[in-house]
This record gives sequence, structure tokens and C-alpha cells, in this order.
Amino acid sequence: MIKKKVHLIVGARPNFMKMAPLYREFAKYSEQFEVKLIHTGQHYDDRMSKFFFIDLLLPEPDEYLEVGSGSHGVQTARIMERYEKVLLADRPDLVIVAGDVNSTIACALDAAKLHIPVAHLEAGLRSWDRSMPEELNRLMTDAISDYLLIPSKDARFNLLQEGIPENKIYFVGNIMIDSLIQHRKKAENSNILAKLDLHKADNTRADFVLITMHRPSNVDNEDSLLILLNTFKQLSEKIRLIFPIHPRARKNMKKYNLENDFESITNLMLIDPIGYYDFMKLQMTAKFVVTDSGGIQEETTFFGIPCLTVRPNTERPITIVEGTNELVGLSAEKIMAESAKILQGNFKMGRIPQFWDGRTAERIVQIFINEFEK
Ligand code: UD1
Repeated sequence: MIKKKVHLIVGARPNFMKMAPLYREFAKYSEQFEVKLIHTGQHYDDRMSKFFFIDLLLPEPDEYLEVGSGSHGVQTARIMERYEKVLLADRPDLVIVAGDVNSTIACALDAAKLHIPVAHLEAGLRSWDRSMPEELNRLMTDAISDYLLIPSKDARFNLLQEGIPENKIYFVGNIMIDSLIQHRKKAENSNILAKLDLHKADNTRADFVLITMHRPSNVDNEDSLLILLNTFKQLSEKIRLIFPIHPRARKNMKKYNLENDFESITNLMLIDPIGYYDFMKLQMTAKFVVTDSGGIQEETTFFGIPCLTVRPNTERPITIVEGTNELVGLSAEKIMAESAKILQGNFKMGRIPQFWDGRTAERIVQIFINEFEK
């Protein structure tokens, strides 16, 4: 039997936990598929990339394109130029891209132009906010993909509205949850709480809030950073804050001379980005999470931990309707009001959405076994 060649594309941190379960599932069918892991190098710091490969048990990538940072145009073009060469040399039967980062659209576009089938993992999510680079990446990737693998039912409606034919849409579930379930035990055993000294004198756990912040609209300008600074000052009077800081946010704090102001908030701990297990452990044990991330809105819903999302909109409305997420925008007042609700025990409870069950990778690989048998 001739093996089908599949490329799995990763580039930025949130891609790794989506591709790892799929890589492992394809490996079970090694007589049918030859799978290559392609890393564009969009994220390159060890803490943003290499350590995740280790935690998620991913092998070294088969190709590393080393594109690094740059403006959107430069980064996207550099990925396209380098990945096209790989495609021409290797001629895969299928390219699978994930999420909404620049690596996603760049590699999808390369493949589509060479008439190589593209599958988009996490298709159909829409924030309806085209000022976000991720929304443009999502729209464009979905428009040129052959297989739209959706994580939740609302995504089907969005795609149909855009004229995507029904027979290209596959409801497979949320693959990030596969990773959470696979690694949950190891995350539970992480010693990050002890490392951060998050224990009280009587050895019970101290309550804390986990913060992540990296969206351009929140961290790229001084006004937004000042709002965050003021909010964290207020919140830190109520509860301890742990903030693993994304390189983009750190860079901008430095640029606007605000790093010391953040550092000097008592009860706020700024730490470098941390690995997958440690971060999971912090999410599972936090009193609540304040974030502008996409994936964390979903992970907190799975863990049943309240999440305040510092954005005016979300492409993941199911985390609000069914889960534990609430939009608060970049507003100190709103964040303080919702935090008070949580601290008083008055916040909503959530449930886990359909097919967030750890079996998404299985469903996806079955689709391609069937497709290639046709
Ligand atoms: C990217 C994604 C975003 C995702 C986020 C997760 C796009 C358009 N955005 O944003 O959707 O939520 O990843 O982290 O693809 N940098 C480093 N080291 C690194 C990577 C980045 O120092 O390993 C710094 C560089 O200064 C770079 C900046 O962070 O200029 C931004 O990196 P970039 O990859 O452009 O976008 P992210 O903000 O990470």
C-alpha cells in the first residue's frame, strides 16, 4: 500500500497542544500514513516552543523553517516562501493547519495554490472583529480549506453563512481537550505551587488569580497597559496574582517604561512563560483566570474554573453560553465587579460542551482513513 503523506503545521505556542494528539493518533496507522511535523519557527524562544515539545512528547520537527519575528507581512511572506519549497520537494497528499496564527494562513495558502488538499483544525470560529489579525487568518484559511474540522456546533452555522458547502464541514470536537486529558496526571503532579510558594503557613493552598495577557490591543499601547496596571493594583488588594508574561507583553512594558511599575505591585508575581504541565496546574488550582487568550477560555471551561476574558468579543461563544467564561473588556470596573462576584461565590457554573471529550484526534484520523480509501 502506498502511504499517504501528511504534513502537520505548527508555528506558535497554541498550535503545539492541538497537533500533539493528532501526531500521536496518526502514528498508530503508520502503515497508512507518513506524517511529517513542520515547525515554521514563528515562536522560537525555548519557553514558547522547545519546552512544549518536551512536555507534549512531540519529536523534533522534520522541517524547521526558522522564520522568527517580523511584521505581519514579513512573517507571513517568509513562511510562504520557505514552506513552498518544502511542499514542492515533498508533495504531501494533505496539509493540516491549526488555529488562527500567521503560520496557519501562510501554509494553507501555499498548499491550496499547489492544489494540495488542506484541512483546518479549529475551523469556523468567528469573533466578527476584523481588526484582530487572527480573525483575518481564520476567515482566509476557512475560505481555502477542503476539510473544515470544527470544535463546536456554532462553527457550522458560521461557515454555512459564508457559503462553505455542508459536505466540507466535520464536527470533530475540541482537540486541545485531548491534550489536557492525556497530560492531566502529569499536570496534577507538577510542583509549581510549591515553587511559587503558593502555600499558606498552615500548608493549605493560598488563593490566587492566574493572569495572561498578550493581545496587541491590550499590550501594544501605553493606554491599555496603564489600564491593566491600575486593574492589577486594585485586584491585588483582594487576592494574590500570578502573571506568566508573554514576550510581546514584556517587550512593550519595557518600551513604555512600565516594567518596574508592574514589578512593584505587592501581591503580583511576574514570572517568565511556563511549561504546559505547570500552566495546567495553575489553571486547575486558580480561584479564577483573567486572560485575553483564546485557548484558555476553553481550558477553563473544561476545568470549571471561572474565566474573565479581557476582550470586547470572543470567537468562542460556547465558553460563555455553556462554560465558565465571561467577557469583561479592558475595563477595571468590569473586572473588579466580576471578580467580586467570584470571590463571593456568586459566579455562574458551566458544563463541558459536546465532543470536548479527549477523542477528537481519533475522529479526525478516521475521517482521513475513510477519505483516502475512497
Ligand atoms: C501569536 C499569534 C496569536 C497567538 C499568540 C500565542 C499571530 C498573528 N498571532 O501572537 O494569535 O495567540 O501567538 O502566543 O500569529 N517573541 C519572542 N519570542 C518568541 C515569539 C515571539 O520574543 O518565541 C516576541 C517578538 O518580539 C515578536 C512578538 O513576541 O515580535 C510577537 O510575536 P508574534 O509571533 O508576531 O505574535 P504573538 O504576539 O506571539
